[in-house]
Amino acid sequence: MSDFAINTVDLSPEGDALCIVDQTLLPGTVKMLRLTAQKDIWQAIYTLQVRGAPAIGIAAAIGMYLAAKEIVADDFDGFMAQFAEKKAYLASARPTAVNLFWALDQMEACALSHRGEALPAVVAALRAEAMCLREEDIAMCKAIGRHGAPLIQPGMGVLTHCNAGALATVAYGTATAPIYRAKELGVQNFTVYCDETRPLLQGARLTAFELMQNGVDTCLLCDNMAASLMQQGRVQLVLVGADRIARNGDAANKIGTLGVAILAAHYGIPFYVCAPTSTIDMAMADGGGIEIEQRAPAEVTEMWYQKRMAPEGVRVYNPAFDVTGHGLITGIITQHGIAKAPYEAAFRAWGL
Ligand code: MRU
Repeated sequence: MSDFAINTVDLSPEGDALCIVDQTLLPGTVKMLRLTAQKDIWQAIYTLQVRGAPAIGIAAAIGMYLAAKEIVADDFDGFMAQFAEKKAYLASARPTAVNLFWALDQMEACALSHRGEALPAVVAALRAEAMCLREEDIAMCKAIGRHGAPLIQPGMGVLTHCNAGALATVAYGTATAPIYRAKELGVQNFTVYCDETRPLLQGARLTAFELMQNGVDTCLLCDNMAASLMQQGRVQLVLVGADRIARNGDAANKIGTLGVAILAAHYGIPFYVCAPTSTIDMAMADGGGIEIEQRAPAEVTEMWYQKRMAPEGVRVYNPAFDVTGHGLITGIITQHGIAKAPYEAAFRAWGL
């Protein structure tokens, strides 16, 4: 579906390290990292060396296996007490993407289901579980691609925000999966517009990079140019990812997504959120309860500039995500199909 050669997140063949591509260096430098220490894995998630909700979840799952491998305990309860501490530490790396907590919970449930077995067997089960979650992520993204691809027709302009691509998942991406699948099916002559995505430029650095690597006709724009592009009739479809979807369909995604959704509604352009069900948080009634990560002011004032571009001491507003109300969303594409409002009923029909 996608020829993208970079392995975003994996366990080393020896089973002793988390292997990621350092996304802070892309697209100029492709550098693979081998991380073993918990503090390095935490730091990689916090600094966005590995980022994107599904990829963060898989990195944390592999990180938990690596942590479990090092636990020295007399019995299962002692093992689980240390496991819980290490889980809480990794969970503190970023607050918004529910996939992080989902993956850590899956790992804990796996360990608990092996109570009574020798500790090396529990650790072996955790390794298998992390790899199973990784495989499942690939399958879910492929299925999102199959369900979303028919939305893409020849001659269309498709706009996306941030990077919900292969670099944000194990492979294929969520918002990019329909794009890669459409290309594979031979849909010709469509263009993908990438918002650059200030302040961390995931659209410019990552989405434009991976789409071009995959031979997709790609056009980069600054975030403030989307309105004029839509006004000219050059966008027929918007596909974005999500970090957490509340059970009423409100969807948190990269800051700026809400603005794109409002514009799409204004111009009558279908706006779809693409996400695996691991991104749906049925415990969250609506988007108002989703914690929005606040990040360092320097990301706005000086990062990416050759010299600082804002007055010293200026107060900075730098939320990493915003919440798009379900009323602005045309549909939510998951591995099960396309959910339409009312979303809670659709999610429950999928067994969530
Ligand atoms: O801060 P980031 O780069 O981790 O934010 C990523 C996004 O907002 C993505 O759109 C989202 O995680 C979905 S990735 C399939």
